[in-house]
This record gives sequence, structure tokens and C-alpha cells, in this order.
Amino acid sequence: MAYNDFTMDNQWLPFTPNRSFRKDPRIFVGASGMHFTTHDGRQVIDGISSLWCVGAGHARAPINEAIKKQLDTLDYATAFQVSNDKAFRAADMIAAMAPGDLNKVLFCNSGSEAADTSLKVALAYHRARGEGHRTVFIGRERGYHGVGFGGMSVGGIPANRKAFGAAMLPRVDHMRFIHDPVNNAYIHNQEPVWQEDPLLELENRILPLHDPSNVAAIIVEPVAGSAGWYLAPKGYLKRLREICDKHGILLIFDEVITGFGRMGTNFGADFYGVVPDMLNFAKCVTNGVIPLGGVICRDKLYDAMMKTDAPEHVVEFFHGYTYSGHPVACAAAIATLDLYKQENLFARAGEMGKVLGDAFHSTLKGLPNVIGIRSLGLAAAVELAPIAGSPGKRAYDVFLDCFHKGSLVRPAGDVLVIAPPYIVEKSHIDTLVNTLADSIKKNA
Ligand SMILES: Cc1ncc(COP(=O)(O)O)c(C=O)c1O
Repeated sequence: MAYNDFTMDNQWLPFTPNRSFRKDPRIFVGASGMHFTTHDGRQVIDGISSLWCVGAGHARAPINEAIKKQLDTLDYATAFQVSNDKAFRAADMIAAMAPGDLNKVLFCNSGSEAADTSLKVALAYHRARGEGHRTVFIGRERGYHGVGFGGMSVGGIPANRKAFGAAMLPRVDHMRFIHDPVNNAYIHNQEPVWQEDPLLELENRILPLHDPSNVAAIIVEPVAGSAGWYLAPKGYLKRLREICDKHGILLIFDEVITGFGRMGTNFGADFYGVVPDMLNFAKCVTNGVIPLGGVICRDKLYDAMMKTDAPEHVVEFFHGYTYSGHPVACAAAIATLDLYKQENLFARAGEMGKVLGDAFHSTLKGLPNVIGIRSLGLAAAVELAPIAGSPGKRAYDVFLDCFHKGSLVRPAGDVLVIAPPYIVEKSHIDTLVNTLADSIKKNA
């Protein structure tokens, strides 16, 4: 298939420099296992699980079969006032995988919707308990929680916020970023250890400023994925949990990336041994095949909202999406979660993460412009010195060059990330990392 088999005039591409894409289109027409096929018949390794989604690899028969069967059985049913069998079954499976009493699953369709849903649950929960004054949200610099107004407001990636300032939620603050480029530039399959306590700022400045009694929730990604795989300092999430408990603040983990195996465990919460009050998920829950997201809530949140004096015919939480718990998406989730289990893919992700980390550190450290490498779970990042006056350009050029050499890697600012499907083999990792090394040298 050639470029001119389709017009490029009508699709406005998301999070993509459209003008440059038109000159050098990158178009997939097929995928299987670890590879894509491009419009011009080339094979490209999916080094990023198609943006952290495709844990089990592409075109997995059990998932595809489950979807086809569901289409012929119950294609769709509204989610309001009625429901469907697959949504209940998927919720059971997800709750069984989640730690602690994270048992109540509110479905939506994406990570952005999960972020907004979790913030709304926080407000409604506090109000139901007579603490409706708790309306402050706290996120973190360079956090990413999608592109809805709620998620964008608690998010902290400057470019995502720049044009939309006037529409941000009021009463939102941000904790400092969790990267120490001086002492922790190179992190090899471990949690960074900090000399200072990065949460003192929260305790001593941010909470007193708003008064902790006004704070509804703190939302963080266990690992800052979209910013470029920045790792929480050792003990950080445990201490955040303690601070939240002390002040009656809800803790939300945005596990859209770290959920369902990326860390070698069910969730980042398991990896770090910390149970949040809400856990947001999307992406890998269906192997990326069909959009599905959700928020897993602790029992106490649901119970508080059900404890109402309103008559029983009245809705307790005025929130939901037309496609919440879509039967086809939930059938895909059931088959995906079964497949992860049958093939023991989360443990495999943990093992291959070590192989990936070793390859990054042994191959990329010392190359021109490399100023940091971070690996943990099945993901690794290499940070490059930016070109003066042109931030992001060096990593973008490396990304393009890797693509042309047959490897899909992800640029994030001046960081390049590799986060392959859990089925990855050492030979794929070698190809991906060697390609990255060649491109880094070429763009020095
Ligand atoms: C942590 C996190 N939250 C939310 C989102 C947004 O998800 P979506 O693009 O499905 O809306 C992402 C997307 O990468 C993410 O990484």
C-alpha cells in the first residue's frame, strides 16, 4: 500500500506534530506479536506496547475470539438502570486482583475519564460524610492524568497546560517533582534513595497553606510514566499514605501505566506495598484492543455514598458514561486478564525488566549526550542533554531514526522510553536497545 492510497487531509492527529508527520508518515496496517507491518510492508518492533497498552502482544487469539463471540451474543446494552453480565464478571476479576479492600469498580473508557471520575468520587465522598468543604486537590509537577479538565488541572506537564490556563479547576496545588538529576541520574532496577525527604514540602508548605482539613485528595502516578519513567524515591509512597491518613485526605494512584503487570506485579500498589483509596486503570486491562478504563474504590467510599437518607429510587452518584462497562470491552478485559494469568505474563514482565535494564545501562551509558538512565519494572528511560534552544528536538530525531530502522520507541521531552509487551524476548530487547544506541550516536 502506498501513501497515496489514502488522503492525509482529514485526520487531525493527537499529540503528534501534524506538519512534520505529513512529510514523513508513519502508518501501520497490521500487527502480530511484537511487530507492526507498515503501509509500505516493513516490520517495526513495538518497543512501547503501543503506549503501555499491549501487555500480551498483538493479535492474541483468545482476546479476539472473546470479542467476536461477544459481538454475536450481546453487542451493547445501556449502562444506566440496567447492566450486563460481562461488566459484573470483569469487575469481579479486577477487584480480586486489586490489593486490600479496593473492591468497587466504576468503569469508564479511558485514563482521562478515570482521572476525572476519581476526583469526582473524592468530592462526593467527602460531601456524603458532611465534609463538603474538602475541595482542594493536590497533584505533582510533571504528573500526567490525561486531558480532561480535571486530569489536566492536577497534571503537571507544562505543555499540556499552557494553552488552557483559564479553564483549570480552582484550588489545585502541585507537589515538587521526584527527580534528582545530580545524585540519582542513573537508576538500575531499583528505587532511588534520597538524602532529603521530598515530602517535607507537602507537610510544611502545601498542606498548611490550604489547611489539610480542606484537602479532598492527592493524586500521583506510582511511577511518572508519561513524563519519562521517573521513579518514586524509596519510601515515598508509604510516607504519602501516612500523611494522607493523618489528615483524612484520600490517596489516588493513577495506575493507567503501572496497572496490570508493568511492574511485574498486578499493580504498582503491590510493587510498593501501599494501598491507595482509589486506583485508576485503563490501557493493559484489555491489552489495548478496546477502550476501557475505571476506578477501583475502597469499600468505605462506596459505603459512605450508599448511606444516604434519599429515597431508594434516587441515584446515589450522578456520574457515568454511555459506554461504562461496555459488554464488548468487558469481554475483552476478561479474556485479557485470563491470558495474563495463564501465561504468567506479569512475572515474565518482572524478569524481562531486569534484562531490559541491564541492556540500557551496559549499552547506553557513556554515549554522547546521555545524562541519565532509569530502569524499573519492564520499562527503561534514557535522558539526553537537550539541544540548546530546542528542547525535545534531539529525542524526537532519535525517535524518527529508530522508526526508520524498524524500532518504535517513545520520545518524552528529551527522554526516550522503551516499555515492550510482556512477551518480549531478549533478542527483541537487543535489537531495540542497539537501534537506540546507533541513533543516539548518529544524532550526537
Ligand atoms: C497515568 C496516566 N493517566 C491517564 C492517562 C490518560 O489516559 P487516556 O489517554 O486513555 O485518556 C495516561 C495516558 O497515558 C496515563 O499515563
